[in-house]
Amino acid sequence: MGEIGRQDGGDRPGTDAVRLEDVAIAFVLKGGKRYVAVEHIDLAVRPGEFVAVVGPTGSGKSTILNAAAGLLKPASGRVTIFGDPLPGLNARAGYLFQADALMPWKTALDNVAVALEPKGIARSEARDRARAWLGRVGLADFVDRYPHMLSGGQRKRVALAQMLIRDPEILLMDEPFGPLDAQTRQIMGNLLLDLWASNRKAVIFVTHDLEEAIALADRVIVLSAGPAAGIVGTFPVPLARPRDISEIRLEPLFHDLYKEIWSCLRVEVSRAYAAGPA
Ligand SMILES: Nc1ncnc2c1ncn2[C@@H]1O[C@H](COP(=O)(O)OP(=O)(O)OP(=O)(O)O)[C@@H](O)[C@H]1O
Ligand SMILES: [Mg+2]
Repeated sequence: MGEIGRQDGGDRPGTDAVRLEDVAIAFVLKGGKRYVAVEHIDLAVRPGEFVAVVGPTGSGKSTILNAAAGLLKPASGRVTIFGDPLPGLNARAGYLFQADALMPWKTALDNVAVALEPKGIARSEARDRARAWLGRVGLADFVDRYPHMLSGGQRKRVALAQMLIRDPEILLMDEPFGPLDAQTRQIMGNLLLDLWASNRKAVIFVTHDLEEAIALADRVIVLSAGPAAGIVGTFPVPLARPRDISEIRLEPLFHDLYKEIWSCLRVEVSRAYAAGPA
């Protein structure tokens, strides 16, 4: 077991899967005013590492994820993916966002198979692989259902399969299980960890939920309240794997970690509320 405590995020030698160096991201608001959302962000994620990002609402979690995805261009600083500057969209990453991105007119099978289209894979092979992936996420009997015929948790399973079938080297997830009930979130968390364990990718997982962050991640990053939010804490999570995320919450080390990280996060959450709506 390692030590609990803060450590520096960046400055690690070797090729990181994702590296943000002194990144600032600003938005131009109506009337031309400039809003600096995040500043001085140094974050390095190693291949195979699972990093969770927590922070108050409006602090810049999605902004950071979008910079890693290549959807937002930093005002300053550098984003590199496996050592190379990000040319535009991050083609080596798969995304999972809070909102469902399934096509309502396609079955679960076709929603997953379509993810292989850009790779030029023949339709019948794509459908075979999609069927196998739907089996892996526990939906073997639901391949012909349309999204409206699936529960929220089942739709998330389809979205997971849709992301993983492309075998991306980096997984970027923005509160993917946010709308689900607590029990289904835990089931989805365990499913995600199982799939990740069999083929470890670099993960950036954004969540409001500190318990979820600790249960899933190797490292938890805490963002300060905005504007100009920065990283105020980096906490390694030395809990053994494989983990059962419903059980792990009962471990004393989990409890200690929660207390330590919450003492950092609580300050920022109070600041965010004091500042009013982000
Ligand atoms: N396109 C935009 N134009 C102007 N401001 C923006 C834009 N996108 C985000 N912001 C602002 O940047 C800040 C960070 O937003 P972001 O969505 O990253 O927060 P977040 O930490 O993901 O919050 P939440 O937990 O509510 O999802 C917020 O104050 C938000 O209002
Ligand atoms: Mg967000």
